[in-house]
Amino acid sequence: MLEQGLILIRQATAEDALQLVEAEKEIAQEAGYFCSQPSELNERDTRQTIESSQGIYLVAEKKGSLVGHAFLEVLGLKSLCHVAQLNIVVHKGYQGHGIGTLLMKELIKWAKQSETVEKIELSVRTCNLRAIALYKKMGFYEEGCLKRRVKVGNSYFDDILMALHIKGEGDEFPN
Ligand SMILES: CC(C)(COP(=O)(O)OP(=O)(O)OC[C@H]1O[C@@H](n2cnc3c(N)ncnc32)[C@H](O)[C@@H]1OP(=O)(O)O)[C@@H](O)C(=O)NCCC(=O)NCCS
Repeated sequence: MLEQGLILIRQATAEDALQLVEAEKEIAQEAGYFCSQPSELNERDTRQTIESSQGIYLVAEKKGSLVGHAFLEVLGLKSLCHVAQLNIVVHKGYQGHGIGTLLMKELIKWAKQSETVEKIELSVRTCNLRAIALYKKMGFYEEGCLKRRVKVGNSYFDDILMALHIKGEGDEFPN
């Protein structure tokens, strides 16, 4: 648990699922952030992700309301279990105030302390400049690009693949 200013970062619980999925649905209404459409997001799946997490699932709380969430999902296969996939969402109305940075720092701290995770991976639409700026600030670098990866209606979005090596390629995490 971390408290910075008015923001508390803590582990998610199954009871958080409804608030988290409502926040995701609001953001998913606009194309370019998530692959999921609002109708593809539901409380049951979010609850299951929290309960069955093989990594870490964090929420950011401000005065009792959830204002962001982020998780690392450690991959299941033996040959891939050194890799964790990152997802992060700062809820509408709270973006651009450092909450994403706080969540990322805690996820990376957890990964560095984990016995298995060596690499964090993520994908992000090329139009999501704020997210890309955050990832680069945290030391992530581009590994590749998937052209026309996401199609919403008649619009296509390219995905950038980004990664951070926690162990094995030097310490890329800024202090
Ligand atoms: C992307 C997201 C997680 C970033 O979190 P945040 O709390 O808004 O970001 P922060 O305030 O911590 O800012 C992080 C960095 O982004 C950059 N940034 C902030 N606002 C920006 C903007 N409007 N445009 C471009 N870059 C911006 C800055 O470099 C900033 O670091 P700095 O303040 O130290 O210079 C958040 O905006 C979000 O959830 N967006 C919608 C969902 C989403 O895109 N999720 C990621 C999908 S891959």
